[in-house]
Amino acid sequence: MRILLIASAFNSLTQRVHVELRERGHTLGVELALGDEAVRAGVARFQPDLILAPMLTRAVPEDVWQRYPVLIVHPGPKGDRGPSSLDWAIHQGAAEWGVTVLQAVAEMDAGPIWASVPFTVRAGGKSELYRNEVADAAAEAVLLAVERFESGWYAPEPLDYSQWDVTGQLRPYHAQEFRRIDWAVDDTATVLRKLRAADSQPGVLDTLLGREYFLHGGCAEDELRGRPGELIASRDGAVCRATVDGAVWIPQLRPRREAGGPPAFKLPAARVLGPALVLAGVPEVPVTPAAAAGRQTWSEIRYREAGEVGYLEFAFPGGAMSTAQCRRLLAAYRAAVARPTSVLVLGPARDFFSNGIHLNVIEAAADPAEESWANINAMDDLVEAILTSTDKYVVAALAGNAAAGGLMLSLAADEVWCRSSAVLNPHYRLMGLYGSEYWTYTLPRRVGAEQAERLTAAALPVGAREALALGLVDRVSGGDSTAFRGWVQEQAELVTRSGELAARLLAKKRQRADDEAVKPLAAYRGEELTRMRHNFLDPGESYHQLRRAFVHKSCPAETPAHLRG
Ligand code: COA
Repeated sequence: MRILLIASAFNSLTQRVHVELRERGHTLGVELALGDEAVRAGVARFQPDLILAPMLTRAVPEDVWQRYPVLIVHPGPKGDRGPSSLDWAIHQGAAEWGVTVLQAVAEMDAGPIWASVPFTVRAGGKSELYRNEVADAAAEAVLLAVERFESGWYAPEPLDYSQWDVTGQLRPYHAQEFRRIDWAVDDTATVLRKLRAADSQPGVLDTLLGREYFLHGGCAEDELRGRPGELIASRDGAVCRATVDGAVWIPQLRPRREAGGPPAFKLPAARVLGPALVLAGVPEVPVTPAAAAGRQTWSEIRYREAGEVGYLEFAFPGGAMSTAQCRRLLAAYRAAVARPTSVLVLGPARDFFSNGIHLNVIEAAADPAEESWANINAMDDLVEAILTSTDKYVVAALAGNAAAGGLMLSLAADEVWCRSSAVLNPHYRLMGLYGSEYWTYTLPRRVGAEQAERLTAAALPVGAREALALGLVDRVSGGDSTAFRGWVQEQAELVTRSGELAARLLAKKRQRADDEAVKPLAAYRGEELTRMRHNFLDPGESYHQLRRAFVHKSCPAETPAHLRG
């Protein structure tokens, strides 16, 4: 079928649906919902058999849904309606939730139901839930709805609140009044629910050291304690605040925009508070990756071992890695490589693997070009360390999505193992960058020069199954992130017991030496960085403008041509 996706943004869920439907042989087009006229024109151009809206924050024009079947993906169970479904689910501590695909009608979210898939709500931020459990349930519901639509005989179920399985209700917009934290009253569980319901957007509006900020992210702390509401520690950019019965970590802040002031965006909390944090005498309380692995506390990097396998887990908000974060990960990587293990697994327990250099931190820098340069060099140092670790078998485990330099980072490993739900974006073009992270060495080595050229130029998302067929990744496994983690552990143990490990390590060492003789790693890096330096410094380049638009979440003027199909 010809399926047109209408979406407010080509976000993770829209990309996932794009990938899943393409894999099933449908012809896909995308039209961003940038106004009724643009949507009408997009529909007229594409002439779809079916329109799907995986993520839409505005209504579809009536003449469009009158003329074409339009199916809306709603992140709530049957009967749930309103613009803040997931916020309410987390705020109220729902254990079960769902995704429903319903037909567009005049009343929002009230159309006949084509499919509905339940899921278990895991503790965590809203966006993380959205990219994982919601995305999995949505993909299943969309495929079911498309199959039912294609069959021609399925009659969608009218919304009927008297049915036993119609458990949702109409709820209002989840405004800041519902999110407000009373630090003298709310216990840790309540504070975490409020923070997580607002993560990553819009954050919880609050006052810190006399100024108003939106708090982003929330993580429990098991040891530190203080007067409720007091800032008691900072660590690697995050701040820790005491509650009535414990404490929570807040990784990022966004200053409330002052009238006439510049637009604000999220940054590491300690950086936003700056000297005020020092003046308030808030101490830096570090934790080692190994100590963090056994604790409930904020740490972007954790390290643990099981038998001969070391696991270096990292999880950076939004998958973005600043210069400091790359350096911390490199230090942890070097320590992990020095351990007496034979296999080293890299990657977070869940969610984004990495999305490359930290565009927000770069945007906030006094000299964004210089900060971009420092960041890409810190990334390259990390990638180089992985590429040259010849006495360990290194596996990158992608429990979630990865993009740009963050995906290229994973390709430095000997093997890439990927959860079947992950969406990969092996390209830099949309940020106006040539790219580095030694991708000119690792990507063609995996997929061949022709595919490397195609993937980087097409700038489209790639699903895990397609990635496997291309050789971009080596193994794929299904299930949720917990199941994937268990599978990774099993596979890693099998590698240590396979009896082939010594031979594999020897082959790796030889291959590296042979490759180095043909073209040294330094030459790849040098060539890539020459292009990147040009991207960063040449006034005619689009990178700074594209980065600014990304950080400030500016709407594009029109749907990018490569998405139209
Ligand atoms: N730097 C800073 N923040 C980043 C980031 C980066 N490289 N990549 C993602 N983020 C942030 C987003 O701003 C977003 O923040 P929010 O939750 O406050 O809205 C969050 O991470 C999730 O990203 P989002 O774009 O909403 O997720 P998505 O799954 O819809 O899209 C990507 C994922 C990777 C396609 C998209 O985020 C992207 O293009 N990132 C930039 C990749 C890049 O060009 N990196 C630099 C070159 S190496």
